[in-house]
Amino acid sequence: MAFTIAIDGPAAAGKGTISKAVAAHFGFGHLDTGLLYRAVGAKMLDGDNPVAAAEALDVSDLDREDLRTPEVAQAASKVAVIAAVRAALVDFQRAFARRSGGAVMDGRDIGTVICPEAEAKLFVTASADVRARRRFLELTAKGSVITLDEVLADVKARDERDMNRAEAPLRPAEDAVIIDTSALSIDDAVAKAIAAIEARKPR
Ligand code: CDP
Ligand code: CDP
Repeated sequence: MAFTIAIDGPAAAGKGTISKAVAAHFGFGHLDTGLLYRAVGAKMLDGDNPVAAAEALDVSDLDREDLRTPEVAQAASKVAVIAAVRAALVDFQRAFARRSGGAVMDGRDIGTVICPEAEAKLFVTASADVRARRRFLELTAKGSVITLDEVLADVKARDERDMNRAEAPLRPAEDAVIIDTSALSIDDAVAKAIAAIEARKPR
């Protein structure tokens, strides 16, 4: 049985954390679609043409160790405005979404463009300050030398670019359940997500 759960939202809102927990809860596969754009962004920083890189993208490219850096995040949001880059990544995402056994996909346009027919859609958000603080703690724990202000600037610049692009802009689908995690623990956010999805599951 195919069952698609779309989880969209801005940078560092908690999409990935919630997606992994939801996928484990339901026994579904999980695809972090941001990694696709990060992999193309990393190749652009290597000097490759982003459209050619997206067309030739291989799953092994998603294992690069440098995909989580703020430099690659910025490059990802720059290649993500290019219509031909987005088009090259559609088939892979849709095939994953309809895999048997169920799929959780997190990104920016899953509920609106990639899987408008998804059985359950969540839009996970939080204030920019909360999101920047979370990402700052994550990056510094991994040894990055970066300030909170720099992380906040990265998050705001990407939000701005993601929300205002012509192609597949970041916005909640009309039928998405909105979960603001600003004041929620991870466990509470996951519980809300699971409850919202259970409400959409056939009995
Ligand atoms: O995938 P996305 O960029 O939306 O966010 P994430 O990587 O899941 O979460 C960013 C950071 O916020 C992680 O370090 C999570 O542990 C943390 N987080 C949190 O503190 N409280 C939540 N309710 C959700 C996530
Ligand atoms: O983890 P975080 O939320 O910070 O970022 P991400 O999900 O890894 O996405 C990196 C960038 O890829 C975003 O800022 C978007 O510009 C782009 N992206 C997109 O356009 N569409 C998606 N479905 C996923 C990511």
